[in-house]
Amino acid sequence: MTSVKEQLLKTVTDPVPNGRNKITVVGVGQVGMACAFGILTKNVSSDVALVDVVEDKLKGEMMDLQHGSAFLKNARINASTDYAITAGSSICIVTAGARQREGETRLDLVQRNTDIFKGIIPQLVKHSPNTILLIVSNPVDILTYVAWKLSGLPKNRVIGSGTNLDSARFRFLLSQRLGVAPTSCHGWIIGEHGDTSVPVWSGVNVAGVRLRDLDKDVGTENDKESWNELHEQVVQSAYEVIKLKGYTSWAIGLSVSNLASAILRNSNQVHAVSTMVKDLHGISNEVFLSLPCTLGQDGVTYVVQQKLTDEEKGLLHKSARTMDEVQAGLKF
Ligand SMILES: NC(=O)c1ccc[n+]([C@@H]2O[C@H](COP(=O)([O-])OP(=O)(O)OC[C@H]3O[C@@H](n4cnc5c(N)ncnc54)[C@H](O)[C@@H]3O)[C@@H](O)[C@H]2O)c1
Repeated sequence: MTSVKEQLLKTVTDPVPNGRNKITVVGVGQVGMACAFGILTKNVSSDVALVDVVEDKLKGEMMDLQHGSAFLKNARINASTDYAITAGSSICIVTAGARQREGETRLDLVQRNTDIFKGIIPQLVKHSPNTILLIVSNPVDILTYVAWKLSGLPKNRVIGSGTNLDSARFRFLLSQRLGVAPTSCHGWIIGEHGDTSVPVWSGVNVAGVRLRDLDKDVGTENDKESWNELHEQVVQSAYEVIKLKGYTSWAIGLSVSNLASAILRNSNQVHAVSTMVKDLHGISNEVFLSLPCTLGQDGVTYVVQQKLTDEEKGLLHKSARTMDEVQAGLKF
């Protein structure tokens, strides 16, 4: 008997299983799901694969998202503990791993999450040899280095979400203080995502008017208006949100979906992301730190060479040394 489907649909050719914009998200915790939700609702990808080790939660999250499909642009949402489901991904976002506990620094997490990465990164590259890895798990700069080492991919294809989020927090705080929209407040946080991040006060501007040209002390210790409190707030932001709600999710989810969009659309948008910084700004260590980078379909294409002050460079070098010391103690 001819089935209803056969009566309804005359096959011309079988549908392609994977589109060109497939994104995998590994880890369906608070961050992974916020990333997936951002990617789907902002139409960054119409083909999302989810992977986790906890089968029930994975299935539940997949079903919950699938039930929203009628409100999305016909997205395909799949999930499995088997990495075969990730095959053909243009981007693999890794959010798996332990998160910071209250009072725990991002660096404390490092060996725990390195061990988890050993089971994840080779599997992702096996099924998507041309993928771009977008690392989110903390400590993100060191885990991006770990992912680069474990993957064998060229450095342009391994990216950490880095200080894209810190820069967004900074721009939000600037906007609150100035009464100007965050998209019109230009300021970059570079270096380590976390406690030793570097605010580039020398470049903070609105419409090309640099705050430092209005008052040379902005962001320094001599600053009577204490602008540097904004950077202190950026550094404390994650700790404060974790204290209040237990984890951070929405801002990082939006930040990552924005990065994925820049890559898939081959946009050459500039974002502060974690990249290999050896030989940049006089850094000699093989470490990943955030600098403004253009993003496209090959990952990082250019690094914008900011004119940093000696103090800003010094802070960057200090971060690089911290990364290097932690990396030296890692067991692969
Ligand atoms: N880079 C950033 O700006 C930023 C911001 C927020 C959080 N984070 C980091 O993101 C990570 C995730 O945070 P969260 O709040 O979603 O944590 P979570 O505990 O809610 O979720 C982690 C998920 O990873 C899964 N997981 C653990 N081991 C796995 C493995 N081997 N394979 C696949 N999945 C595995 C867990 O089952 C869980 O679902 C943490 O490392 C956190 O510090 C980074």
